[in-house]
Amino acid sequence: MNVVDCRNLKKSYSGVTTTDILKGIDLAIRPGEQVAILGQSGSGKSTLLHILGMLDLPTSGDVRILGQSNSDLSDSQAAKFRNDNLGFIYQFHHLLMEFTALENVAMPLLISGIDTVEANRRSTELLSLVGLAHRLTHLPSQLSGGERQRVAIARALVNQPKLVLADEPTGNLDKQNAQQIFDLFLKVNQELGTTLVVVTHDQVLAERFDRVIKLDDGIVI
Ligand SMILES: Nc1ncnc2c1ncn2[C@@H]1O[C@H](COP(=O)(O)OP(=O)(O)OP(=O)(O)O)[C@@H](O)[C@H]1O
Ligand SMILES: [Mg+2]
Repeated sequence: MNVVDCRNLKKSYSGVTTTDILKGIDLAIRPGEQVAILGQSGSGKSTLLHILGMLDLPTSGDVRILGQSNSDLSDSQAAKFRNDNLGFIYQFHHLLMEFTALENVAMPLLISGIDTVEANRRSTELLSLVGLAHRLTHLPSQLSGGERQRVAIARALVNQPKLVLADEPTGNLDKQNAQQIFDLFLKVNQELGTTLVVVTHDQVLAERFDRVIKLDDGIVI
């Protein structure tokens, strides 16, 4: 079974006028694949990623994530599906500022009902994987930009999601940190076998992935 299956996915926004953003995307992503999405600003990358992450619905077309269609799920079923199966990383880390690195990473586990001891054990393991074993009790304000982004990656991975979606995860990092984050993604992809979909502006970083998809004027070129 494919992790992502989109057929003729379309997304329009209607206001005073209707704007067609995605104009018929066909996309299949297999388990374990690493896919980079490139495209100009406004080309619909975030829109596509939100639909793949079940945070938004397409206007038309068939979208299946791990065989599941968002339109068949209630809001609470979709929230559970996301927490169990998907991991998100954004350009800005969205960490909870009043919680430590460890607590931030443990949060999705606690939400799924795992006890604190086990949640802390797994979170420590993930933070070690991203090179932050020595920063467990730091608050986000006590971490560098790259470290915060690595905490966000650990948090996105802690539930062992089958699909990890990242929207310009290195957008506000310098070149060296951006490269390290990409190295980390590729390492995690190999070690944990997760499927990765990463939006980036950076052609050079994108080319390290198995597959690069380019969005232009609402279609994949
Ligand atoms: N809620 C909305 N209503 C109307 N138009 C929208 C809405 N959200 C996004 N758009 C439009 O959809 C287009 C695609 O937006 P999207 O955020 O997907 O682009 P992007 O490729 O991620 O760009 P960037 O690289 O700048 O992040 C943009 O032209 C944007 O103005
Ligand atoms: Mg975007």
